[in-house]
Parts: sequence; C-alpha cells; structure tokens
Amino acid sequence: MYTLGIETSCDETSCSVLKDKDELLSNVISSSLFRHQPFGGVVPEIASRHCLEQIDLVFEETLKQAKIRLEDIHLVAVTYGPGLIGSLIVGVAFAKTLSYQLGIPIIGVNHLEAHLVASFIGAEEPGRFIGLLVSGGHTSLSYHEKGKVELLGETVDDAAGEAFDKAAKLLGLGYPGGPLIEKLALKGNEKKYKFTKPKQDQPFDFSFSGIKTAVKLLVEKEGTELSENFICDMAASFQKCVVDWLVEKTMAAVKAKQVQHGVIGGGVSANQYLRNRLEQGGKEHGCKFLVPSKILSLDNAGMIARRGWELYQQGQHSDLHLTGVANLPMKSVR
Ligand code: KG4
Ligand code: ZN
Repeated sequence: MYTLGIETSCDETSCSVLKDKDELLSNVISSSLFRHQPFGGVVPEIASRHCLEQIDLVFEETLKQAKIRLEDIHLVAVTYGPGLIGSLIVGVAFAKTLSYQLGIPIIGVNHLEAHLVASFIGAEEPGRFIGLLVSGGHTSLSYHEKGKVELLGETVDDAAGEAFDKAAKLLGLGYPGGPLIEKLALKGNEKKYKFTKPKQDQPFDFSFSGIKTAVKLLVEKEGTELSENFICDMAASFQKCVVDWLVEKTMAAVKAKQVQHGVIGGGVSANQYLRNRLEQGGKEHGCKFLVPSKILSLDNAGMIARRGWELYQQGQHSDLHLTGVANLPMKSVR
C-alpha cells in the first residue's frame, strides 16, 4: 500500500511516499527559509505563496524518487493543522483534488501528532511511552498508551524552538536560531551564565519567556558590540539551561508513569546536545528514547504519511469537507 504524505503547515512544502507501514520511498522537502531570513522570522504570506509555487514540483519529484505512478497511490494523508492557514490550505486543496481525481481516500493529519510518530519509521513502536514534543510553535509532554494520549503538560508561553529563535535574534544571529545556537554553543562555556528556573503550578508545564528576558538584559548590559566569546558562552549557557529543564521534566514524567520508552519529535529534537542528555537521563531511569533521524525531526511529509497510514488502519478517514485548522490542538485529554 502506498500512502502519499503532504505537509504544508508553515515554511516547508513536502511530499512523501510511504510503502506500507514504514518503508519511506521518498520524502522531498522544499524550504522557503531563504526567503524569510532577511525578515528574521517566517512571513506567513511569503510562506503560503512558496507552498503554492512548489507543491506541483515537489509532488512530481516525490513520485519520481519513489518510482511509482500517480495511479499507484492508495491513500493521501495531509496536514490540516495546526499551522499557518494560508500554507495549510494549499496542501489540503491539493490533497482533496488528488483524492477526488483518483477516487482514493483522504485523511487529515494533526501535525503535532505526526511529529511524535516520526521516530517509528523503520523502528519498533513501543506500547506505552512518554512523548516530548519540541517544535517552533509547541512544547508538550504527553503519555501515550494504546493510541490514547494524555497531555501531561505544555508551555504556558513560548515554545522551546521559539525560545531558541528569540535568543538567537537577541545575539544578532540569523533565523532559525536553533541550529546556529547549537553550533556556537560547542565553542562556549555552558557554566558562564545561570538562569532562574521558572516556578510552575503544574509540574509538567514549561515556561521559556523568562529566559528570553534574562538573555535580553545580559545582552543590553554587554553593550552594542558583542564579542565572539560572549555570544558563544551565552549560546552554551542558554542551550544547557533549556535542555536541563526539558530533560528534568521528561525524566519526572518517565518516573511518574513508570515507562521504559520515550519518544521525541519536532525541530528542537534535531539538537544533538538534547539527544545526548535524554539518552543519558534515560539510561539512569531505565528508559530508552526513540529519536527520529535529523530530517524526520524537522517538518516533513514522511511523518504525515506515517501518521495517516496509522489512522487509516484504525478505520479513520476524512472527506472532501476537510479544511485547514490553524490552532488545532493535539488530540488528548488532560
Ligand atoms: O518542527 P519544526 O521544524 O517546525 C514547527 O513545527 O514549528 O521546528 C522548527 C524549530 C525552530 O524554532 C528551530 O529553531 C528549531 O526547531 N530547531 C532547533 C534545531 N533545529 C531546528 N532547535 C535547537 N537545535 C537545533 N539543532
Ligand atoms: Zn513541526
């Protein structure tokens, strides 16, 4: 069975072909990042126009790489939220057209849920696990058992990726900030700056707006010319602190739910320092972490096809009334 995945929730246009459960035959991604860089962040109008320009080309390329024909597709899985509405509409309209034209089922996929199945492509799926989702727009901890999701906590303000992006901007670096901070942190002293841990009523909630303000104040104190040493030390200290908080709460959740598996997903899960720290923490708690490949950590249609396939196996499907939903939450109970 061939599932076509389509992802256009933000600045990427991506199409993939998944054979059966987890044989990813192609996963083509066209990013509009270079168009947003001069503005220091994603410009929604530019993102959606890019999706519109690229979707045909990316679709053709993905079929070519997968070596299948249009008529071979059995199911079309498409991100319908959350995300930028203009971008979402492009993918959803494209998917509905294909579904209608080919007479095949369509399934709308939640982008956040898809991030948490990315690491299952080519790996054994655990029955129970803690999910740590760390992307540009979302940060959450959830407990998963037999398809049921319990939201344990989420960020009360900025997402982890957003915090990386904002800190990078304050340090005069480019966009997206995560990979740039990770690179510079390798040359810095992570013990140089300390940041106060935010106090939270809910034990598994996160908050990242305070650390952003702390970075801002330190940058202002440093003056207009930031030295390379200052930037690297700040990058390392910032990264350590954010990762400390993420790992600490994830391990507390692992302990509370007594699980032997953890899963991470979302753009920040591409961060090697976070991966190493989770692996180390996991070892101490008898918990193995499943980590997606770096390409599957970022926005991509492979994870959409995987999630769509899974939902379809459970008997679910959408219809031609499917539409983009900008603020779609993760399907879960709290
Ligand atoms: O999942 P994603 O590609 O898009 C959303 O769904 O939001 O995540 C993008 C976010 C950006 O904030 C970016 O700075 C962050 O992921 N990111 C990283 C790294 N690579 C991407 N953060 C830390 N370290 C990285 N290596
Ligand atoms: Zn994402």
